[in-house]
Amino acid sequence: MLPNNILLANKINIAIDGHSSCGKGTLAKYLAKALGYVFIDSGAMYRAVTLYLLRNKVTLDQVKMNPNILDTIYISFKYNFETDFFETYLNGVFIENDIRTMEVANYVSEVSALKEVRDFLVILQQNFGKEKGVVMDGRDIGTHVLHDAELKIFMTADPIIRARRRFDELALKQVLISFDEVVENIKKRDLMDTTRTESPLMKSDDAIILDNTNMSKEEQARVALSWAKGVIAVS
Ligand code: DC
Repeated sequence: MLPNNILLANKINIAIDGHSSCGKGTLAKYLAKALGYVFIDSGAMYRAVTLYLLRNKVTLDQVKMNPNILDTIYISFKYNFETDFFETYLNGVFIENDIRTMEVANYVSEVSALKEVRDFLVILQQNFGKEKGVVMDGRDIGTHVLHDAELKIFMTADPIIRARRRFDELALKQVLISFDEVVENIKKRDLMDTTRTESPLMKSDDAIILDNTNMSKEEQARVALSWAKGVIAVS
């Protein structure tokens, strides 16, 4: 057991990167709650920008020509005590459900490959990390956004297992989609995330790999929390 005074005094940043649908958000939320940290879902920020562009019919070429368009986007997060959920807001409007649709999922890799979008969001993300005590998940957090994070975790899992988990999640929300479509979407996003020119998904040299193909949520939570406490104890 780590005494509370050490937990509070030695705040660290935790970067969690990895492939789509391998439970980064679940683990990040768990760690944030267990440590009393702030959780930042950087993927939700890319999804929020995607939703904004779709809704306002702004093309990627228009963003490239005039990146200032992005300055009209304000993204914030609120913790909902009733639902125990971190919610995303776009210009003050609740968008948590709207950013999880397949329409957004199918377009977000193209949007997030844009240098102008990344430059805009990375500054916001780095500001969140300035005070320490942040758990941020994404694709380039350990390599780029919070490159001095004290703990970096790189998560992965077999793509078919990830698709199964995602399919079950969507089925619970009564989203009508075939398993094959989910597999396709995951494979497409893996390929785009790892091969794009701007900040491709890759493991930072100092990140610890967490492959949860054969792990329960509880097991991975236990392992990651012990890593975090180990780092906090010596920080
Ligand atoms: O984690 P997610 O599936 O909600 O992320 C949505 C998309 O955003 C994903 O396809 C890749 C992109 N993304 C990114 O490029 N960089 C990040 N730090 C987080 C997400």
